[in-house]
Amino acid sequence: MVKQKILCVGGAGFIGSHMSHKLANSDNYSVAQADIWSAKLKIRFENKPFAFHHIDISSDDDELSALVADHDIIFNLASKASPRLYVQDPLAVAKLNLFDGSKVIDACVKHRKKLVHFSTSEVYGKALGSTEPFSEDLSNCVTGPIRNHRWIYSTTKQLLDRMIFAHGRQSGLKFTIVRPFNVVGPLIDHVMVGPDDGAPRVFSYFMSALMNGEPLRLVDGGKALRTFIHVDDLVNALIAILDNPAKSNGEIFNIGTPQNEIRIADLATLMRDIFAANFEMSSVRSDIVTVDGQEFYGEGFEDTERRMPNIDKIKGLGWTPRIMLKDLLEDTMRYTWENRHRLTQEAMDAME
Ligand SMILES: NC(=O)c1ccc[n+]([C@@H]2O[C@H](COP(=O)([O-])OP(=O)(O)OC[C@H]3O[C@@H](n4cnc5c(N)ncnc54)[C@H](O)[C@@H]3O)[C@@H](O)[C@H]2O)c1
Repeated sequence: MVKQKILCVGGAGFIGSHMSHKLANSDNYSVAQADIWSAKLKIRFENKPFAFHHIDISSDDDELSALVADHDIIFNLASKASPRLYVQDPLAVAKLNLFDGSKVIDACVKHRKKLVHFSTSEVYGKALGSTEPFSEDLSNCVTGPIRNHRWIYSTTKQLLDRMIFAHGRQSGLKFTIVRPFNVVGPLIDHVMVGPDDGAPRVFSYFMSALMNGEPLRLVDGGKALRTFIHVDDLVNALIAILDNPAKSNGEIFNIGTPQNEIRIADLATLMRDIFAANFEMSSVRSDIVTVDGQEFYGEGFEDTERRMPNIDKIKGLGWTPRIMLKDLLEDTMRYTWENRHRLTQEAMDAME
C-alpha cells in the first residue's frame, strides 16, 4: 500500500514532535516536518532519523509552496501559544497565527491538498457563567474588549477558522479543524531556570517552580477551571481523524478530556503533593501564593473562568480519552524531572 505523505508545518514543537514520532512506524502514513527549529524532534527521536525541512513560513514562500505540493495532507501547527506573549507582543502573535498561517491555507488551496488545521479551545472565549460544555457547531465565540490584548490569540485563530470554512465552500478546500483543550505531556515547554525565564504554560510554570524551590504563583487566586488532556490521547485523536477522512472532512473537532477538569489552585496543590511523594528535594516545599493577572502577564490580561469541551463529535470517530489527570501529571512530571538538564531553553538552543 502506498503511504500518504503528511507534512507538519510547525511540526517540531510539542504536539508535532509527538505526532511525528508516533507515525514514524506507520504502515499508512509517512511524516515530515517544516519548522524553524528541531531541538524537540532531536530529543523525541533520540538518535533515529526524521524528515526535517528548515522552513520559516513568514519568509520562505516558494519553499513552503513546493513542500506542500509534494505532500498529500498538510497539518498546520505553527503558532505562538503563550498567554504572556498575547499581551506583550500581540502583533507578532497575530502575524504568525493569521497572516503567515493563511499562507499555509493558500498553498493547500493552490495545490488542492487536504488541510488539518490547529485551532484552539480559546476561540470559544468566555463561558459567561454558563456551565454548558463548548460545542463545535452550536457555541458562540465571545471574547473581551479590544483593549485587552489577551484575546488576540483567540480572535486571530477564530478568523483563520472562518477563512478555512470559506475556502471549503468557495475553493473546494478539503479540511479538518481541531481544537485541543489544554494539552500536557513530555516536552510541553522548556524548564525554567528562574521565575522570569520565558513564558511557558501553566504545567511548566508549576513544575519549574517546584524543581527550583520557588513559590507556585496562582494568577488571580487560581480560580479558573481547565480540563487537561495527555498528548498521547490527543495524538490518537489525530490518527482517528486521519483514518476517517470522509467523516472528518469539513468538520471541527474539540479534543479534550472532560473528566480531567480541575481548578488551577487545586492543580498547584496536586502537583506539589505528587512532587513531594515522588521526587528528590521533597524536603523543599514550595509555597503557593496568589498574584494579580495583569502584574503576572502584563496589562491587557483577562481570563475565562471555565473551558469545558463537548467531545461527542470526536467520540463518533471511535476515539475516547484514556489518561486520567493523576497519571497524566505523574508521567509528565517524571519525564520533566528526569530530563530537566536538557530541557532548559539554553540546552535546547545549543542542540540546534
Ligand atoms: N498545546 C496546547 O495545549 C494547545 C492547545 C490548543 C491549541 N494548540 C495549538 O496547537 C498547535 C501546536 O501547539 P504546540 O503546543 O505544539 O505549540 P509549539 O509552540 O510547541 O509548536 C509550534 C511550532 O511552530 C513553530 N513555528 C513558529 N514560528 C514558525 C515559523 N515562522 N515557521 C515555521 N514554524 C514556526 C515553532 O518553532 C514550534 O515548533 C498550535 O497551533 C497551538 O495554537 C495547542
